[in-house]
Amino acid sequence: MRVFEKDDLINLEQLSKQELMRLLQVEGNLQQQLFRQAQDVRREYGADEVVLRGVIEISNYCQKNCDYCAMRAANKKLERYRLLPEEILSIAAEIKKTNVISTIFFQAGQDPDCDPILEEVIPEIKKRFNLNVLLCLGEKPREVYFKLAELGADSYILKFETSDPLLYQEIAYTPLARRLQCIRWLQEAGFKVGTGNIIGLPKQTLEMLADDILLALEIQPDFVSSSPFIPNQNTPLEDLPYGNLNLILNTIALYRIALPSALIPTVSAMEKIQQDGQLMGLNAGANVLTINFTPDKYREKYVIYSQKRFVVSLEHALQTIERAGLRVRMPPQSTQEIIEDNTCHNE
Ligand code: 5AD
Repeated sequence: MRVFEKDDLINLEQLSKQELMRLLQVEGNLQQQLFRQAQDVRREYGADEVVLRGVIEISNYCQKNCDYCAMRAANKKLERYRLLPEEILSIAAEIKKTNVISTIFFQAGQDPDCDPILEEVIPEIKKRFNLNVLLCLGEKPREVYFKLAELGADSYILKFETSDPLLYQEIAYTPLARRLQCIRWLQEAGFKVGTGNIIGLPKQTLEMLADDILLALEIQPDFVSSSPFIPNQNTPLEDLPYGNLNLILNTIALYRIALPSALIPTVSAMEKIQQDGQLMGLNAGANVLTINFTPDKYREKYVIYSQKRFVVSLEHALQTIERAGLRVRMPPQSTQEIIEDNTCHNE
């Protein structure tokens, strides 16, 4: 494999924490070399078609109190909402109609009251639209994960956020061990699992960021992501600076090289901190874009990054992919429809 060739920047077999710390900081020519290697790996593993996900943020209620997030339970200034099954199904139809989105993505705060809604909605979506169902709903009991898998959900994202147990506990007020246990349960339940880190948390060191990559390697997730910390209004961390974009891009490239066929998103938070940030993510080895389908009236209440977050439209996503010289991975059914269409024209 190319990653082991001599002219490459990285030899995975010799990848130590020290080496990761060095690679995380590369700039200029070395950084370009790192990105090229990530792009080569992505192509060699057939992972360079970009997957589009359509996200619906179904509830902003949350049991947790993470210092970086304005949906934390202690934020009494936030008006809470939860979508109804009918609303979710009508948005799902919209997502299906695009013909280019293969995955419907339900995101919410950690809100057990979403469970009965999902029980109704997931089987219906599988039956009517045959989309991949991806969930990001936080820590739940083992049996709830198994139930969600049984209902037909395909994948689940639970980011470890930081690999440092003390920092995690300090910022999220729950043990990291519990979160890692949840990740194992999700894998046991048969989900494709996503995880990853946030870069730019207070007291986070370069060594911790290297450990984040090593932890992701240990978990062997199907999806992995890195997002910059975004200071969020009405949180204890509102006055902190944004996470560093170069560190994010280098982490994306390292994730790509270490987990060659993983799905790796280039997140909207990167566009928020720099124009074309998501394009830079694709150039660093990412291969997923998420388009926001949350209705406007709820969207402003889903204050995941900040009140003025960057909202990704289908148009922005398609333009970004084209500018990166990449193509969209079409959902299997749509490809079929195109083939059938062509057959008709030929007849
Ligand atoms: N900055 C960066 N990432 C954040 N997330 C939530 N709030 C922030 C923030 N202020 C990320 C977390 C969470 C995911 C859904 O969004 O990683 O797991």
